[in-house]
This record gives sequence, C-alpha cells and structure tokens, in this order.
Amino acid sequence: MKSIVDFRVKEVSPCGDRAVLLRLSAPGAMPECVPGQFVQVRVDGSRDTFLRRPISIHWADTAAGELWLLVQLVGEGTRRLGQLRAGDSLNLVMPLGNGFSGLDALRAAAAAAGVSEPKPLLVGGGVGVAPLYYYGAWLKARGVEPTFLLGARSKGLLLQLEAFEAVGRVFVTTEDGSLGERGFVTQHSVLQRERFTGIHVCGPAPMMKAVASYAGAEGIACEVSLENMMACGLGACLCCVEKTVRGNVCVCKEGPVFNINELTWN
Ligand SMILES: Cc1cc2nc3c(=O)[nH]c(=O)nc-3n(C[C@H](O)[C@H](O)[C@H](O)COP(=O)(O)OP(=O)(O)OC[C@H]3O[C@@H](n4cnc5c(N)ncnc54)[C@H](O)[C@@H]3O)c2cc1C
Ligand code: FES
Repeated sequence: MKSIVDFRVKEVSPCGDRAVLLRLSAPGAMPECVPGQFVQVRVDGSRDTFLRRPISIHWADTAAGELWLLVQLVGEGTRRLGQLRAGDSLNLVMPLGNGFSGLDALRAAAAAAGVSEPKPLLVGGGVGVAPLYYYGAWLKARGVEPTFLLGARSKGLLLQLEAFEAVGRVFVTTEDGSLGERGFVTQHSVLQRERFTGIHVCGPAPMMKAVASYAGAEGIACEVSLENMMACGLGACLCCVEKTVRGNVCVCKEGPVFNINELTWN
C-alpha cells in the first residue's frame, strides 16, 4: 500500500564526483517495498520544485525502518536534496511501481536456459546502478549470487563500488578507460566469457537498448527499469507513457521494470 512518510535524514555522504547517498530512518513502521520500486520525494524550499522527484530505492530494511537513496545532482531538485543535513525531514510517497523479477521468474529463466541455478547479471549505467544494489542484496540474502556489470563515462561517476563488491562479483567499464575495461558495458569481455540466465538493467536509455539488443540476440531473459520523465508517479497525469505490445502504459504504474518482450524497441 502506498504511504506518505516523513523520514528523518540520518546521514548525507558524498558519493563519486556529483552524487550523494542519503540514509533515512522511518519515524515508525515503514511500508514494505521490493527492489526496483521507487519513491516520490518532495523537495521543499524552492519555487522551481513543486513536483516531487522520482528516486529509486537504493536499499531498504523495513524491519529496521532504514531506507537509502542514491541521488545524482543534476538540477535544482536533486541539488537541494544534496544540501540536506542529518536531522532534516524528508517527505516520501512510497513504495511506487513494480519490482525486478522474483525468485520464481529467475528459476524459470534458468530452467529455460537449461541450467539448474539462476545466474543473474545486473547491469547499471551511471546513477542507474541505484536500484541494482538493493536487488543484488535481496538476491544474495535468498541464496542467489548476483554479478554486477557497472558502467560510467569515467571513474568518478562510478557509484558505490565497494558496496557492490560486498554483495557480488563486480565488472566495470568506463568510456575513458579510467577504471575497468575501456568502452561500453556491452563491450565488456565477461559477456563473451560467461553465459548468464537473466539480465536486469537500469541506466540511460541508449545503454539499456544496447543491452536489450544483446540479450535478445543471445536469447537471454532481460528486463529493464525505465526512467521516463514523471510528474505524479501515480498513473494520473500520463506524462510517463511508454509504448508496449499491450498499448501505451504509464511507466510509474505498470513499470518502471519491464520485460524487454513487452517493449517495442526493435
Ligand atoms: C523511476 C525513476 C527512478 C529514478 N531513480 C533515480 C535515482 O535513484 N537516483 C537519481 O539520482 N535519479 C533518479 N531518477 C532521475 C531523477 O528523477 C531526476 O534526475 C530528477 O527528477 C531531476 O530533478 P532535478 O530537479 O534535479 O533536475 P531538473 O532540473 O528538473 O532536470 C534535470 C534533468 O533531469 C531529468 N528529469 C527532471 N525531472 C525528471 C523526472 N521527474 N523524471 C525523470 N527525469 C527527470 C530531465 O531530463 C533533465 O535532463 C529516476 C527517475 C525515474 C523516473
Ligand atoms: S508520472 Fe503521472 S502518470 Fe506516470
């Protein structure tokens, strides 16, 4: 069920060249959420930010009432989020949208690939890595080892690497070669060396389309988390519409996670 909650900011830490990690605590019982869902953040104190901003759940512990958001500072709203201090209040609508595949879907994809255990690859570009950390930690807690393939333009834009390394194997690409293999995620050698049973992607649209194209050509199950422009986040304003094989749907309500077979990208 969707709730409006005033979280308390516990800590704001710089992350990479231009992002922050917000650690929040809930005042009481925190709504249940799953990896891939997002929150709508109210940005107070600016006339230019009357619309809430959609931000993925980077990590959540419902029992402990703790929620993390990883925020790249790109404009007025996110800049203001980066100025929050411990003790401030942050109003969220949550949880919104659907999540990444659960265990049954992962096992079905593994069976379709002819292997007994799921071997998921989580591919993130830029701040698109945000929901993949929660998903990877969720998988690991359920006995499924995630592999991460994370890409960015340069080293300073790769976020939370140590946190990802604590959860699973991590492969990296940078476009300028400052860390990991030079190039795009679709060029990483791990894709030639290993066969994955499912690919789960979040990042810039061209990168997600390239990964979806690779997965489609290889016959690997693939889902992508879309970051279409959003306003209400509730399926009311229609500004986040995406064309699918079922017709036009609101990404905030029917997504943000979609199986690539549902999309009309090809
Ligand atoms: C489902 C979803 C999950 C997201 N998760 C994260 C996340 O975990 N971390 C993160 O840093 N960012 C995330 N984003 C992107 C984030 O919402 C935008 O960067 C933010 O709204 C920009 O607000 P701003 O006021 O700082 O910038 P603005 O000055 O409003 O715009 C700067 C840029 O951000 C883009 N943008 C602006 N508003 C939106 C919007 N409502 N939806 C999508 N893009 C927008 C615009 O294309 C523009 O290029 C997510 C977006 C979606 C749709
Ligand atoms: S953001 Fe309003 S319908 Fe999706």
